[in-house]
Formats: sequence, structure tokens, C-alpha cells
Amino acid sequence: MEYIVSGGRLQGELPVYGAKNCALALLGATVLTEDEVILNNCPDISDVRNMLLLLQAMGKKVWRCGDRVSVAGELHSTCAPRRYAALLRGSALILGSTVAKYHKIALPLPGGCAIGARPMDIHLSGLEALGVKVLHFPDMVSCSGRPKGAVFKLRFASVGATENLLCACSLVEGTSVLSNVAIEPEVVALERMLVDMGARIEGVGDRTVTVKGVRKLHGAIFDVIPDRIVAATYLASAVAAKGDLTVTNCCPQHLQAFLQLLQPHCSVKIYPDAVRIVAEKRTGGFGKVQTAPYPLFPTDMQSLLLSLAACADGTTVIEENLFENRLAHNAAELGKMGADVQVSGNVATVSGRNLHGAELFAADLRGGAGLVVAALSAEGDSVVHGIEHIERGYMDLAQNLRNVGAKIQLR
Ligand code: EPU
Repeated sequence: MEYIVSGGRLQGELPVYGAKNCALALLGATVLTEDEVILNNCPDISDVRNMLLLLQAMGKKVWRCGDRVSVAGELHSTCAPRRYAALLRGSALILGSTVAKYHKIALPLPGGCAIGARPMDIHLSGLEALGVKVLHFPDMVSCSGRPKGAVFKLRFASVGATENLLCACSLVEGTSVLSNVAIEPEVVALERMLVDMGARIEGVGDRTVTVKGVRKLHGAIFDVIPDRIVAATYLASAVAAKGDLTVTNCCPQHLQAFLQLLQPHCSVKIYPDAVRIVAEKRTGGFGKVQTAPYPLFPTDMQSLLLSLAACADGTTVIEENLFENRLAHNAAELGKMGADVQVSGNVATVSGRNLHGAELFAADLRGGAGLVVAALSAEGDSVVHGIEHIERGYMDLAQNLRNVGAKIQLR
């Protein structure tokens, strides 16, 4: 399957659904209790489906009805089956919860997008600080022992490591102080769900959290937060194709770094849970942009910006500081469309051009969405191959964009 993209003009309203990276973290936390945890607004995308299959294979009972997912019951195995764990990076998010509740886990090294080395040293050194014994094998890790509260400073504010350690510290004996934790909206949502499950977390949303361990956590009903990357993808599509688009059911506050870049070039109106963008002409260059942890410019929006920069009237310099392989592939693909993108190490210097259609290959989820955005701005038809990468994180991207006027077909 591939997308055929031929531009169009975007007009209308497009709602955003629940965030992949929030849903995966919340699903990882369901292991902390045998009670039922219900997630509303849970996206039906392949990464979430595979995470549910992983939990099911380990013993959880899983139901889905529309956008509502329910997970309940005990694990009957603490060995994560490779056939699911290897499919997505999010499988690593059962590490902290499984060790806390069952005191052991064998986890094949997780898969996901080929965007960089993605080591797990912070997750594992954090668990070691809690007293867990960690054994490293070439393609898996094994953890055992009953964790205890401890003081631990993350050497980098890793999203996944923060999520694993929050889960682990919630269900242990003793108090933990975790510092330099990530504060991405998906992490804060997890902290809130843990509190709803009975965890005692002080400093929700702060860089340092104190977690007073409890003996038992219970079920909860929780809403997955809106996907800020999907919202940004829709907005970037409107800028690339031109038009007047209102993205609804989103959280504009989570999009601030992205909206600040668009504001000098387009009309951006911010509502409590929507953003309207009116883009009538080519944007200028976006200056110098560096990816960094939240609230700064996110790496997951970098490929969207790279595409907008490629078709802008001006120069943009983008420094990718999180995932080393996230620039080069898309830079080469955009080159096929006539873009001028010079990559040196982790820096891309982009001189905007009018792009033309080309045959493009998505190599990862966010990069694939970036190629769709570039194709929407181009003169003529583009074919985007590799859409299975895009479908890991987007529900019906082609259909949704088509609903507001994009000329994009699934073939
Ligand atoms: N890092 C380490 N050691 C660790 C963990 C991370 O060196 O133990 C490094 C990574 O190599 C990277 C940086 O720290 O350079 C940040 O990685 P982080 O751990 O924060 O990322 P992650 O938890 O693996 C999540 C999202 C990613 C998103 C990043 C950054 C999920 C399932 N994935 O990954 O989302 O890019 O945070 O915000 O939540 C995507 O959705 O396409 C995606 C890749």
C-alpha cells in the first residue's frame, strides 16, 4: 500500500484522537494492578494493537469497544514474547510495572523506528538504584528482585525511563525521590493516572518527584490525552497545502513550541481545545531550531518542520539533538522533490524551494508523516511508500486529510 498525494487546499475542521505515546505508557502501567483499568480516547493504531497483544500474551484480559480499552487481571508470565515486544519501542514500558508487581521480567530488546541507537541504560540504572538485579544479554534484559524506594537522578530526562521508574516507585516499600525526570505531557498524564490508581506522587509535572510507595494499586478510568504530534501534522499539512484548517479536540498548550514557529508566517488562532490556522502564501524560513525535551521543540515534530522548511521562501537551520538518524533519510527523500537540504552531522541547513512530486520512501513513523506534508506542498503527484511505518502512529491519515480537501489516495 502507498499514498498518492497531489496537493489540494485544506478547509474545514479536523479532530485529533488520543496520543500513541500516552496510551502506551498508560497501558504499561496497567500491569501494576489486577483490577480493571479503562482507557478512553485510546487510538486504534498498530503500536497500540501490538502493545495490547503483548499484554494479552502475558496474561492480561483485554477488551476494546470503540475508543475505549479495558485491561484487567494478573500476568501469568513475566517473559515478554519476542514476537510482540520486538515490534514496538513502547514494549519497554512494561519493565517498571512488571518488576514492581511481580519482582521479575525478561524483556527482549524493544523494536520501534530505526531513528537511533536508543539505549536503555537510564531505565536499567534507575531500576538498579531501586535494588533490582539487572542482567544484560545481547538481545534481551532480565530483571529480578523486589525494588525498594531510593533517590535517583536521571542523567538525561528520558521519557521512557521516567515512565518506567514512576511505575516501579509507585508500588514499592519506601519513598523515592526521582530528579531530572521528563515533563512531557504524556509523562504528566501517566503521573495523574498513577495517582488515580492510588499512588502517592508529590510534584506531578515537576522535574523532581517524590513517590511514597504503596502496597497495592487499584483500577482507574482515564482519558488518553490528545496527540500533539498528530495535531502538529494536521497544522503542518495546512501550511504546506495552504488553506484554512481548524484542528479540534487538541491541547494548544502542548503545541506551543510548534505554534510559535508558525505564528510569524500564518494566522494562528488559539482556542481552549482547538487551533485554527489560515495559511495563504509560502512561509519564510524558520531561522535556527533545535530539538530538545519538552517544553522546547520536540524531535517528533522535526520532520514536519524539515518539510515546511524545504518548501519555504527562506533559510532554516535544524539541529536534531535526540535521535541521530532522524535527519539524513528525509533530507535525501526531499532532495528527490528538488529540495535543497544540506546535512552535516546532526544539523540540516535548508534553503527553501518550490518542490515537485516524486517517488518517496518512508523509513520511520514521523519521517513518513513529514514526507506526506512535503508532498502536499509539491507541484504534481507524489507516491509515498512504506506507509506501514506511518500507520504505527496515525489513524486513517489519508482519509482524515482527504476529508478536509487534500488530494491523497490510498493505493
Ligand atoms: N536515552 C539514553 N538512555 C536511555 C534512554 C534514552 O541514552 O536509557 C537517550 C535516547 O537515545 C535519546 C534521548 O535519551 O537520545 C531521549 O530518549 P527518550 O528515552 O526520551 O525517548 P523514548 O522514551 O525512547 C519517547 C517516545 C518517542 C519520542 C521520545 C522523545 C514513546 C513510546 N516514544 O521515546 O516517540 O521521540 O520519547 O520525546 O513514548 C514516536 O512517537 O515516533 C517516537 C519515537
